[in-house]
Amino acid sequence: MSGTYNAYLMYFLYNTPSQFDQMIMQAYSTHRFCVAPMMDWTDRHCRYFLRLFTKHTLLYTEMVTTGALLYGDAERFLRFNAAEQPVALQLGGSDPDELAKAAIMGEQAGYQEINLNSGCPSDRVQRGKIGACLMAEPTLVAECMAAMKEAVAIPVTIKCRIGIDEIDSLEHLSHFVETVSATGCHCFIIHARIAVLAGLSPKQNREIPPLDYERVFAIKERFPDLEIVINGGIKTLEESRHLLENVDGVMIGREAYQNPNLLARVDQQLFDSDYPVMSQEDVLAQFIDYAKNELRQGTALKHMTRHVLGLFQGQPGAKRFRRYLSENAHKQDAGIDILETAGRLVLNSNSLMETPIQEVLC
Ligand SMILES: Cc1cc2nc3c(=O)[nH]c(=O)nc-3n(C[C@H](O)[C@H](O)[C@H](O)COP(=O)(O)O)c2cc1C
Repeated sequence: MSGTYNAYLMYFLYNTPSQFDQMIMQAYSTHRFCVAPMMDWTDRHCRYFLRLFTKHTLLYTEMVTTGALLYGDAERFLRFNAAEQPVALQLGGSDPDELAKAAIMGEQAGYQEINLNSGCPSDRVQRGKIGACLMAEPTLVAECMAAMKEAVAIPVTIKCRIGIDEIDSLEHLSHFVETVSATGCHCFIIHARIAVLAGLSPKQNREIPPLDYERVFAIKERFPDLEIVINGGIKTLEESRHLLENVDGVMIGREAYQNPNLLARVDQQLFDSDYPVMSQEDVLAQFIDYAKNELRQGTALKHMTRHVLGLFQGQPGAKRFRRYLSENAHKQDAGIDILETAGRLVLNSNSLMETPIQEVLC
C-alpha cells in the first residue's frame, strides 16, 4: 500500500488537514526531501527562512565540530527557533567519546537527528580527521556511530561520498555501508561523486568529480532495508520525483539556497500535502516579522538578509532587490525598513509598508 494511499485513508478517517499532514509525515520517509548542511549558509536564520516555504522538508544545520561544542560557545552553535523543526544537527569529528558527548548536547537542545559528516573534503577538516577522509576508515566510523547511537535516543545518520581518491568502487562503498550499518545506523545520505582529497578545493569537489547516481541506486538495491538518500546536482522537484523511484530520499543543497522558491511546492508535489503554497510575498512578510524580533534581540540585519537574496530569482526586479539589500543591509543600525523597501522594489505592493513605491524609487 503506498504512502499516499495511507495518508488519504487517514484523511477520510480523521478529516482534518493537520491530522492529514501528520499522517503524511508518518506515511513517507522523514528523509524524502532534505536541504543539505552548508557551512556558513544553513545557519538558523537561513533555516527559519526556508521553513516558511515548506513544512515537511528536513533541514540540516551547518557542520559543527565536536571541539566547537565541547570547548566553545555551545549555546551559540546549538541555538535554533522551534519553528525551524524538523532540524538535524550535523557533527564533525572522529573521536567516539567526543561525538557521543556532542550528540547528547544536540539531543538535549531539541534536534531531531544527529548526522555525522563523512563527506567534507576541505584540507582544514582533514587535518582534524573530520569529513571525507573518514571514508578510508569504516571501522573508526562504525565506532563513532555506535558511541553516538548508544548515547542518544534520536536517529543517528551519516552523510558520505560515493568514494574518495583511489577508494572509488561500488565494492568499497558497499563495504563502508555494511560496516557502518552494522552499528544500527539506518540512514545514509550519499553525495553521488567522489571527493579528491589532494589538489581540489571544496568548491571544485562539488563540481569536478562526475556524478554517479547509478552507484547510489546500486547501494539501495544491495541494502534494501536501509534508508538511502541521494545528493548532488539536483535542481528541480521533477528530477527529485524521478530519483525517488530508486531511493528513499533526495537532498538538495545549492539550488535550494540560491533559488529558495524551489521549496514552495515541495509539500504539495512530494508529500501530497494540502498546505497552501506560500507566495514569495507571504514568505517575505513573515520573514520581516521574524527579523523585527531578531533585531530587537541585537541580531544585525545583514546576518539575516544575506540568506534571502535569491527569493525572487529569475523574476523582474530580482536584481534591484539583491542590490538594494547588498548596498544597505550592512550599514550600522540598518533597520527593518531596509528589508521592507527591498521587498517593495520587487512586489510593487502596498502590503509591506505604507510609503508609496514612487517615493522609494526616487
Ligand atoms: C557553501 C557550502 C557549504 C557546505 N558545507 C557542508 C557541510 O557543512 N557539511 C556537509 O556535509 N556538506 C556541506 N556542503 C556540501 C552540501 O551539503 C552538498 O553535499 C553539496 O553541495 C552537493 O549538493 P548540491 O549539488 O545539491 O549542492 C556544503 C556545500 C556548500 C555549497
